[in-house]
Amino acid sequence: MAAQKTDDTAAPGTAPGAAPDVAPGVDLTGRTAVVTGALGRLGPVWAGALLGAGARVVGLDLSADVPAPLDAALDRHGHDRFLLLKADVTERADLAAALAECLSTFGPPTVLVNNAGIDQPPSADGESWRFGDIPGEVSAGILDVNALGTLRACQVFGTDMAERGHGSIVNIGSLYAGMAPDPRLYEHLAQDPPFLKPPAYGMSKAGVCALSRYLAALWGRRGVRVNTLSPGGVLGGQDRRFRELFGARTPMGRMADTTELTGPLLFLASDLSGYVTGTELLVDGGYSCW
Ligand SMILES: NC(=O)c1ccc[n+]([C@@H]2O[C@H](COP(=O)([O-])OP(=O)(O)OC[C@H]3O[C@@H](n4cnc5c(N)ncnc54)[C@H](O)[C@@H]3O)[C@@H](O)[C@H]2O)c1
Repeated sequence: MAAQKTDDTAAPGTAPGAAPDVAPGVDLTGRTAVVTGALGRLGPVWAGALLGAGARVVGLDLSADVPAPLDAALDRHGHDRFLLLKADVTERADLAAALAECLSTFGPPTVLVNNAGIDQPPSADGESWRFGDIPGEVSAGILDVNALGTLRACQVFGTDMAERGHGSIVNIGSLYAGMAPDPRLYEHLAQDPPFLKPPAYGMSKAGVCALSRYLAALWGRRGVRVNTLSPGGVLGGQDRRFRELFGARTPMGRMADTTELTGPLLFLASDLSGYVTGTELLVDGGYSCW
């Protein structure tokens, strides 16, 4: 019989040389996950996926009214594994109180999805400014929620994970962390001044990617992985012309369905990505590859 090969890279708990012959499933049973901005468009998608994988989920948002999509997910997976707390990511004290509540209700969180964000979607009645006129407080508000809000949540929940030696943080970025919004996608909108994607949005998401790398380095040996999941264009209320233009600009020819985001989230949140940290997973249908 051939000698068993010694493998220094074997996962903890795996016999040397042994490798599973089937891919492990995503099982987050017994884990507690925190999702910020849980009540918007994508928050219920992340929360539903985590609940579906067996996790207990603590949702944080500015209000405590559960919207229909999340209610449907709770009907499927069980209301007893979900807790919604009012917490503003611009307020460190809110996050600290949420951690305390999470610890006493569900136990230590080992997954954090930093999803709370503000943007300015194109809409005929939406406010818009010429670049030189964008009020400072509008830019500062976007940076405060998207970038600093993510930092604050990592300071509170991530520090707890590092102290306990286990966790996965998924910071929600955006295609626009690494690419400029294409102004041609918005030219058909009849707005004066013309619609302008806020420059602070991409700035904030680039900061989120930088923070993921920073914390991956800081906490790499303390059992906490930190990655960015950056969606491209996600279907949800955009006008037909925008969808056509975005599709034509995308190798896969279309925008993403929200169901196509859950696999990447569960991959990063779970042990399936046990040796992945400090990276940005783009889920953009190839938008950024050409
Ligand atoms: N939807 C997309 O196409 C898309 C694409 C790329 C990236 N993203 C990112 O995904 C995340 C979610 O996007 P979405 O489309 O669901 O946005 P959304 O506006 O529908 O939801 C955002 C949620 O965050 C909450 N929120 C805002 N400020 C907060 C604060 N200070 N504290 C706590 N919660 C706060 C809002 O109340 C809302 O429920 C954002 O970070 C966004 O930048 C979205």
